[in-house]
Amino acid sequence: MAVRRFTACVSAAVLVWAGVSAAARADTIDEKAAVCSSCHGEKGVPTDKNIPIIWGQQEGYLYLQLRDFKKGARKNEIMNGIAESLEKDDMKELAAYFAAKPWPNLNQASASDADVLQAKTANSAVGCSACHLDRFQGTGTVPRLSGQSHDYLAKTLAEFRSGERANNPGMTSLAQATPEPDLKAMEAYLAGL
Ligand code: HEC
Ligand code: HEC
Repeated sequence: MAVRRFTACVSAAVLVWAGVSAAARADTIDEKAAVCSSCHGEKGVPTDKNIPIIWGQQEGYLYLQLRDFKKGARKNEIMNGIAESLEKDDMKELAAYFAAKPWPNLNQASASDADVLQAKTANSAVGCSACHLDRFQGTGTVPRLSGQSHDYLAKTLAEFRSGERANNPGMTSLAQATPEPDLKAMEAYLAGL
């Protein structure tokens, strides 16, 4: 197991390195986007549960995240390295390219009745859908949440809560103000939509 994990780390690092130099050389949008597919998936299904779906995500949101990764306002070793080599035009082009793709179905389990009830109650109290919209499809710079990877949703909400993800103070305050069991229920509910 330890060996497998080590090998996975090494190959991820090699991929990133190869990816960064390929992105710098790539001319067409397809070439630029090919780098992303090694993690975000050939058909939009990410290769790991901690990697978010970007196919069909809101264009404005995708652009903002790439910009924040490049600035270092959002911290992630892998994505910081990748965004560093991207210019503003590349980020705009990549955001438009991935936003236009169909959102993939990860076939995640539907939430239990108890989680659905708790999530709906929490949503009425906090008003997540006031920004993320009725079916959590997002709009503009507000991301789609419905059908997003469960593990990724849990990871990123925990990081908003701890302050590790600090590129949006509004979401940090909301995640901190929402009791953890409510967030857990929301994660299960959103992933299963
Ligand atoms: C080596 C794997 C890897 C590669 C290659 C990669 N990504 Fe990522 N990407 C990740 C991971 C892991 C995350 C989650 C970061 C986090 O947890 O904060 C991420 C997050 C993102 C996000 C944020 C999505 C969200 O819902 O907040 C965007 C946008 C993104 N990547 C775009 C790209 C683009 C565009 C490329 C190609 C230029 C790319 N990525 C290449 C691993 C990768
Ligand atoms: C005032 C508007 C607003 C409200 C209310 C709100 N959000 Fe958000 N949320 C946003 C914005 C804007 C972002 C994008 C932040 C960024 O640019 O990094 C976001 C990002 C997120 C993300 C990260 C998605 C990703 O792909 O990384 C999750 C998860 C999330 N919100 C969940 C929730 C939940 C759960 C609630 C209710 C408890 C909620 N939000 C309430 C505006 C809001």
